[in-house]
Amino acid sequence: MIPYSKQSILESDISAVSEVLSSDWITQGPKVPEFESALEEALGVKHALGCSSGTAALQLAYAAIGVGPKSVGIVPSVTFAATANAFRNLGATVYFCDVNQNDGIIDLQSLKETLEKVRESSEYDKGVISPVSLAGKTAPLEEVYNLAQKYEFHVVEDASHSPGAYYDDHSGSITKSANCRWTDAATLSFHPVKHICCGEGGAVLTNSKGIYSKAELLRSHGITRETNKNEDMPWYYEQIELGWNFRLTDIQASLGIEQLKRLNESILRRYRIAKRYDEAFRSPKFANHLHTPEITEGHALHLYVIRFKEKGLRNKAYHFLKQHDILSQVHYIPLYRHPYHSGNYTPSDFPGAEAYFDSCLSIPIHPTLTETEQETVIEVLSDFVQKT
Ligand SMILES: Cc1ncc(COP(=O)(O)O)c(C=O)c1O
Repeated sequence: MIPYSKQSILESDISAVSEVLSSDWITQGPKVPEFESALEEALGVKHALGCSSGTAALQLAYAAIGVGPKSVGIVPSVTFAATANAFRNLGATVYFCDVNQNDGIIDLQSLKETLEKVRESSEYDKGVISPVSLAGKTAPLEEVYNLAQKYEFHVVEDASHSPGAYYDDHSGSITKSANCRWTDAATLSFHPVKHICCGEGGAVLTNSKGIYSKAELLRSHGITRETNKNEDMPWYYEQIELGWNFRLTDIQASLGIEQLKRLNESILRRYRIAKRYDEAFRSPKFANHLHTPEITEGHALHLYVIRFKEKGLRNKAYHFLKQHDILSQVHYIPLYRHPYHSGNYTPSDFPGAEAYFDSCLSIPIHPTLTETEQETVIEVLSDFVQKT
């Protein structure tokens, strides 16, 4: 079976984890802060806070900004459930906005209309927009920031797919995913299919000391030792907020440290795979049936998403690939289509998301994909387009 995505675990990863298992600390020891410092350095951000998942990171970031039951979150409709669920779990109201039909990334016109709608219809205490740097392509963070400023919203980038990504518009300014130049915070996921694998895990990134300190407090029950003024009671701690156990362990962090060292190399390997797909799919037999993603400089290539031109072909291709032991995936079913959310939305209000969803298919791309496996994927797809 050739999976669409797969973690790469080397001997050095296994030794790092074994070392922690034989040490005195397997949960809250020195590896978590070491991983956090390495993330800060690699991503160019002031504060990184490791936590138990990408979902926990979103919830911590939103909560640290002050999101609660009277708040509003604006989420692009093509993303994983967690981007919206983290708002819902804090009691906030979620508004979906449409995405660009070419890349599934937040549509700025729809965002503006959604901000207008929110302003007219609700009274809220905090508003947060969560652009998603889908598939590894940096969302238009500066433009989102400018709109957010106008409507007094905060911005949290869901950068689960995009550590290491950047966008160079060749005007002299480079927008980097996850460095929080244009956002209040960003979040990462260290789930095994992501660029950096910790088994499970995530991180909140921010340049704001206030957001960092609040998220750190909430990560561990809202408990602090810093209020202890009494040297006779070194064991003393106090709970000053209502938080969660969203901690990362030293076992996970030791794996993350090793994986982070290979981030750039792994993006480069993905880039070579993407270039080979681009070259193969340029031939007329493919070009008549599918669009390839636009791979601009700085794309982190978490996913390689092809788009079928003819309605219905995507599902047929999925099955055909599966019959040939190749796993592909659809990223994502727009969130308003899920039964949990669907009562309040009409798919025709989201033409960009519908067009993207109907035609998208993520085909195998990961650092351990061999050249032979990639050629098999290309041959099977070639067979498919010839038979249709
Ligand atoms: C865009 C996006 N956001 C958030 C998450 C949640 O991350 P995790 O699975 O680590 O909780 C994921 C994971 O699939 C994701 O793809």
